[in-house]
Amino acid sequence: MNTQRVFFLVWIINVCSSQPTGNTGFFWQVTDFHYDANYSTKGNPWKMCHDSSEGSYSNSIYGNYQCDSPWRLILSATAAMKRLHPDPDFILWTGDSVPHVPDSTLDLQKNAQNIGNISLLLRSVFPNTSIYPVLGNHDEYPADAYPPPIFPRSVQSVLHSMVNAGS
Ligand SMILES: *[C@@H]1O[C@H](CO)[C@@H](O)[C@H](O)[C@H]1NC(C)=O
Ligand SMILES: *[C@@H]1O[C@H](CO)[C@@H](O)[C@H](O)[C@H]1NC(C)=O
Ligand SMILES: *[C@@H]1O[C@H](CO)[C@@H](O)[C@H](O)[C@H]1NC(C)=O
Repeated sequence: MNTQRVFFLVWIINVCSSQPTGNTGFFWQVTDFHYDANYSTKGNPWKMCHDSSEGSYSNSIYGNYQCDSPWRLILSATAAMKRLHPDPDFILWTGDSVPHVPDSTLDLQKNAQNIGNISLLLRSVFPNTSIYPVLGNHDEYPADAYPPPIFPRSVQSVLHSMVNAGS
């Protein structure tokens, strides 16, 4: 290897190993909590891990892949965000906080409480970080009911419950 090549190699290594500059940013994107307050460790995984009379199962306290999220999983996820990067520039919260349950199981108030509790949690774990919420198709009540001319009040109410803890 001649001197020129060695110099070039050292230059390449330097460029590749250089640290990020002050212009580098960091943000979290968190999505699809699908918090299910009715998750049970004894519930049937083929029926959303909800308690029923059909026998007893043994799901993890942190959830089951077939089911939506217990609160404990959401606490664990937000604690991990805090541990891995406690001071992001901002957080994008891209929605779907409500469980995959029939509309008849929920109502507008329960929907808003579900989202509101996650909103309060994110705010308490990251009190000084700007959080930008985006609504998912499950955050509306009834689910997937987006058109504002048809459901204007419900859209407003859900937005309010996401934003109230963020202000
Ligand atoms: C939990 O289950 C009960 C009984 O089906 C239902 O009334 C309630 O709305 C459910 N709550 C949530 C948050 O899904
Ligand atoms: C939300 O939090 C309130 C107050 O802690 C609690 O009473 C309620 O059960 C929670 N709702 C859900 C869906 O977990
Ligand atoms: C948030 O900001 C306040 C006021 O500047 C400060 O006292 C507090 O320690 C900060 N909290 C966190 C978790 O950074």
